[in-house]
Amino acid sequence: MTNDSLSPSSSSNMNVPPKELPIRMISTVIKGFGRGSKELGIPTANLCPQNLISTTSFQNLPTGIYFGFANIQNKVYKAAISIGYNPTYDNEHKTIEPHLIAQQDSPTRFSSKCGETLLEDLYDEKIKLSIVGYLRPELPFEGIDKLIEAIKHDIVQAEQKCDVVDEELGMLVNKEKAWVESDGIDL
Ligand SMILES: Cc1cc2nc3c(=O)[nH]c(=O)nc-3n(C[C@H](O)[C@H](O)[C@H](O)COP(=O)(O)O)c2cc1C
Repeated sequence: MTNDSLSPSSSSNMNVPPKELPIRMISTVIKGFGRGSKELGIPTANLCPQNLISTTSFQNLPTGIYFGFANIQNKVYKAAISIGYNPTYDNEHKTIEPHLIAQQDSPTRFSSKCGETLLEDLYDEKIKLSIVGYLRPELPFEGIDKLIEAIKHDIVQAEQKCDVVDEELGMLVNKEKAWVESDGIDL
C-alpha cells in the first residue's frame, strides 16, 4: 500500500516513456473535479491514491498518457489513461484517470450523458488497472477544444494498441489483459 505525498514538488515529474511498464494497480474509484464528464464529455474513473496498491509507488508513477486495461464490476475495458497534473488545468495533485472504452456496439460509447451516469455508479467501486504502453507526454492545451481533440485521438490510439497482434507487444497486451480479467489480487 502506498500513501506518498501527492504534491508535484515531491515527485520526479518524468515526461519520458517509462521503462518499468507494465504497471499494475488496484484501488477504488473516487470523484475527480467533475470536468471530465461535464466540461469535456469524456468521463474518467479516477483512482484513489490513498487506497492504491501498485507495482510502482504513487510518488514514482511517471506522468504521461498511456493505454491499458481496466476491470470494474467484473467488466473488462480497454482504457486511455492519464497520469499527472492535467497541465491544462494546472492541478496541484497528481491523478490517475482512466477513460474506459466501451465495446464498439455499446450504446454508452463516447456519450457524455451515459458516461456521466456510468461514473456515478462507479464511485467506491474496486478498480483493477494495468498500464501497458505509453502514448505521449501530458501537455498544456490552449483551450478545451484542443484538449478534447487530443484525448479523442488518444482513445483511438489506445483502442488500436489494445488489439495489437505484433508478436512482442501482443504477448504483453494479452498477458496484462489476462491479469486484469482474473479474480486475483496479486500484482
Ligand atoms: C486519455 C487522456 C488524455 C489526457 N491528456 C491530457 C493532457 O494532455 N493535458 C491535460 O491537461 N489533461 C489531460 N487529460 C486529463 C483531463 O484534463 C482530465 O481527465 C479532465 O480535466 C477531467 O478531470 P476530472 O476527472 O478531475 O474532472 C487527459 C485525460 C485522458 C483520459
